Amino acid sequence: MSNIAVLTSGGDSPGMNAAVMAVARNAAYYGMSLIGIKRGYNGLLGRAEKPADDFIRLDLDTVLDIADLPGTWLRTARCREFLDPAMREKAARTLKELDVSGLVVIGGDGSFQGAMRLCELGIPCIGIPGTIDNDLAYTEMTLGYDTAVNVCTDAVRAIRATSRSHDRPHVVEVMGRDCGDIALSTAAATGAEIVVVPEVKWKVDDVAAQLNRQIAMGNTRATVVVAEGCWKTMAPFDVYKFLLPYGKEVYPNEPMTANRFASVLKRKCGMIEARSTVIGYTQRGCSPTARDSIFAFEAGAMAVQLLKSGVSNQVIGMKHGRTFSMPIEKALAEKHHFNRKLYNLINSL
Ligand code: F6P
Repeated sequence: MSNIAVLTSGGDSPGMNAAVMAVARNAAYYGMSLIGIKRGYNGLLGRAEKPADDFIRLDLDTVLDIADLPGTWLRTARCREFLDPAMREKAARTLKELDVSGLVVIGGDGSFQGAMRLCELGIPCIGIPGTIDNDLAYTEMTLGYDTAVNVCTDAVRAIRATSRSHDRPHVVEVMGRDCGDIALSTAAATGAEIVVVPEVKWKVDDVAAQLNRQIAMGNTRATVVVAEGCWKTMAPFDVYKFLLPYGKEVYPNEPMTANRFASVLKRKCGMIEARSTVIGYTQRGCSPTARDSIFAFEAGAMAVQLLKSGVSNQVIGMKHGRTFSMPIEKALAEKHHFNRKLYNLINSL
């Protein structure tokens, strides 16, 4: 095996560049050359005008320059076309034409599905879990999750300082798609009084009751951390009907947002003010923490070693602080274990 390739796919996550660097250094160590595929699986579909926009030979000098950069230097994309078998065959053909005999895919579950399909077409693939969401059940951490939690923790600490100055509650929305892990860890790390996640069905009135309980205890500046996906498991609540008498500009059937939720809680709890913040993409576009970088370093090395020893169709994960690998299909079949105990603790105090 003298030629391998690497791509980053799905939402970018801190640590992707560090993982590419680790793959490159290990490939160089074993005398393999490395091709970087640009914009995830899109780079294999021949869409760019020049091949140089689809793939690049990654020499050591180049990757040493990118390792510390935030984002993903190779670019990324969510490639819906990869659901089409004809497109996957085209991608496999491209890899064969490039004389690539192994591919490292850094991404989340959708990206791993793509890797599994490429394996069926004769391209050995290894997956590294790159997503801030921590929504891959087989591994204790995904690349970027620790960084996202640290960004959110810094942000919520700052928010709690200004909430204290003004004595008012604050709703903070963090990312995670359908996974509440970032919200849960952020709430625990900052001492936030309430956390709302998609894993647990909830009612607006129950959160208002929780906030009222804090106010009754003398805490008029509680933080409510909400996961972006939590609106999906909220019991029906007509935000339009509720806020209209207060002169809020909402339109029928509009979804609940952090901003509206703050307005609703303010009214329901008789507060003078309540504020909201959506932390957003700062969670993704920053430099990785040491923990994420270390995982990237180890995972990159393991990916190359596996390919070198002829192992394929595996993903790398972390268990009890050690990297390990397992078959992609088995990994994707595992069910996410939400930390209900921590959730109950945060919301009960
Ligand atoms: O999967 C990572 C993630 O940041 C999710 O937390 C979020 O729901 C989604 O990506 C946002 O995707 P996009 O970059 O397409 O807006």
